[in-house]
Amino acid sequence: MSAVIFVHGGAGNDFDDRLAEFRAGVSRATWAGWQVLSQGGSALDAVEAAVCVMEDDPQFDAGHGSFLNANQEVEMDAMVMEGAQLGYGSVAAIQRVANPVRVARLVMERTRHCIVVGAGAEQFARQQGVPLCPMEELVAGSSTHLLRPEDRVFRPGQAGDTVGAIAMDASGLLAVAVSTGGTAGKLPGRVGDSPIIGCGAYADNALGAAAATGNGEALMKVLFSKSACDLMAQGLSPQQAAEQVLGQLERKIGPTQAGIILVNPAGEVGAAFNTHHMVHACIRAGEFWIKD
Ligand code: GLY
Repeated sequence: MSAVIFVHGGAGNDFDDRLAEFRAGVSRATWAGWQVLSQGGSALDAVEAAVCVMEDDPQFDAGHGSFLNANQEVEMDAMVMEGAQLGYGSVAAIQRVANPVRVARLVMERTRHCIVVGAGAEQFARQQGVPLCPMEELVAGSSTHLLRPEDRVFRPGQAGDTVGAIAMDASGLLAVAVSTGGTAGKLPGRVGDSPIIGCGAYADNALGAAAATGNGEALMKVLFSKSACDLMAQGLSPQQAAEQVLGQLERKIGPTQAGIILVNPAGEVGAAFNTHHMVHACIRAGEFWIKD
């Protein structure tokens, strides 16, 4: 089986003046995931590595650079899932950690739970030896311009959103990871699609894997990621499934901001989005490409 890493940096509309930086950030994340795979690492290690690069990069709405909530604080959601045993872990509304995706993986691997939220998630991270950081360290780059009262609602035009990565390793195992600061000006305690299984992401070796981005309140109503995987299981190619699930979302919910990347059990990929941009990049059989 030929290894695959497929990464996106979030769907949005305000990218034009920052497209080069977004492309560079998504490229770095993709190569970080590929480095893991090319050294024989697991799909889970690859998606964690890729997402950590984007959480550490203040251009993206995840980790450093997360959009601020209505209290002008950072609260983040993240999820990991692997497709062999359907292992799944997530954190929601977590604060003061630079890499929520690492905590989501610890929830999956070291607890009997799937989702841990808020203060409990932060306490769990600390108990697991994850360093905490002052919230101010996470407020950077793209989030600082959202400190205005008029931004206390979801703005379809805002640049970026949830970041995500899907990997297939040499043994054919699929894994997915997503991470987000959520929507700008969200209510404190609001949880989006990203940490919810089948909504922000899904992975099942028999169906394929999906990583979503966009308006969480819309995506979760249609189980966006699981629906896309089910379409692949019905025989659609990843590209057909991505386009079809986006169309279904728009017909059910109406106009809303969304994007998705998909990998099927054969390692084929597809992507669709309805925003101006969703920077996404792939390395498959050693060949790199990037699109926006
Ligand atoms: N997709 C990110 C969110 O709605 O929180």
